[in-house]
Amino acid sequence: MTEEATTGFGHGKVILLGEHAVVYGQPAIAAGMQVGVRAHASTGTGSLRIPAWELDLQVGDDSPVSAAVDRLCQRLGVAGRTLDFWLEAEVPARAGLGSSAAMAVAIARAVAARTGASDDDVLAAAAAAETVFHETPSGIDAAAASRGGVGRFDRAAGWQAIPVNRPIELCVGLSEQKRHTGDLVSAVAHLCERTPVARRLIDALGDLARAGMDALANGDVEALGHEFNMAHGLLSGLGVSTPKLDALVREARAAGALGAKLTGAGGGGAAIALAPDRSEDVLKRWRSMGCYGFLTLVGT
Ligand code: MEV
Repeated sequence: MTEEATTGFGHGKVILLGEHAVVYGQPAIAAGMQVGVRAHASTGTGSLRIPAWELDLQVGDDSPVSAAVDRLCQRLGVAGRTLDFWLEAEVPARAGLGSSAAMAVAIARAVAARTGASDDDVLAAAAAAETVFHETPSGIDAAAASRGGVGRFDRAAGWQAIPVNRPIELCVGLSEQKRHTGDLVSAVAHLCERTPVARRLIDALGDLARAGMDALANGDVEALGHEFNMAHGLLSGLGVSTPKLDALVREARAAGALGAKLTGAGGGGAAIALAPDRSEDVLKRWRSMGCYGFLTLVGT
């Protein structure tokens, strides 16, 4: 009889406000998307296949992805080389949409389904895997990947779900520029060391996230749009935007978005736009500049 594979799912994420600042203890708002990564685990010899990302690896070899999976298996008390993993990824890799955390949570859940590990163990294992990709992850990506919905996250209190009365439609646009989160987090850290005023931008990003929570609580999409626009300016000031991200943001606003910003670490990756009733116009505008975009509902 062939053994049935166990499965697990991790959400892709968008950060609405507070990326980078969250590394410094400020709050941020993130949402787990409906799309993500599904992992299937079965008894095997450590093969790790993710066809959508063109990855065919062996757990524990020297690529970052296999090292991360090895680390998370160890954390769950399982030898990664005794399992085979096959992953269905609906989010692009290295695009600012939390692909590595979604992968880690999906695999940790598939392993936990075999061992009975708790949700807390899953989150701790996913967080440990994230440290392979950058040394000081705040934990926001792993929290959003495991919890879904919309949440406030800070390093001290972790994830707190934010109730949203009416789901918000967001446009997500891909710059197609791959980047490495760790490099961008380090670049911001160096800037803060060299130019202490950069820390004020970090604090202001935290203030915008706090204001965003009020806007969400009041269903005030116009205020949220302004906060997106200001956050993009501050993130540009920290040096993590790119001409392509700026163009995605500019075109979204020209198509009628109330607000638009880069999301995640920047340096490429993705932008988000808040454009109630104008979402299709935003996607069309992005298409005309050769960029793929899609819609996601935040708060479902
Ligand atoms: C990456 O999705 C978000 C950053 O704030 C890094 C982190 O929080 O670990 C840039």
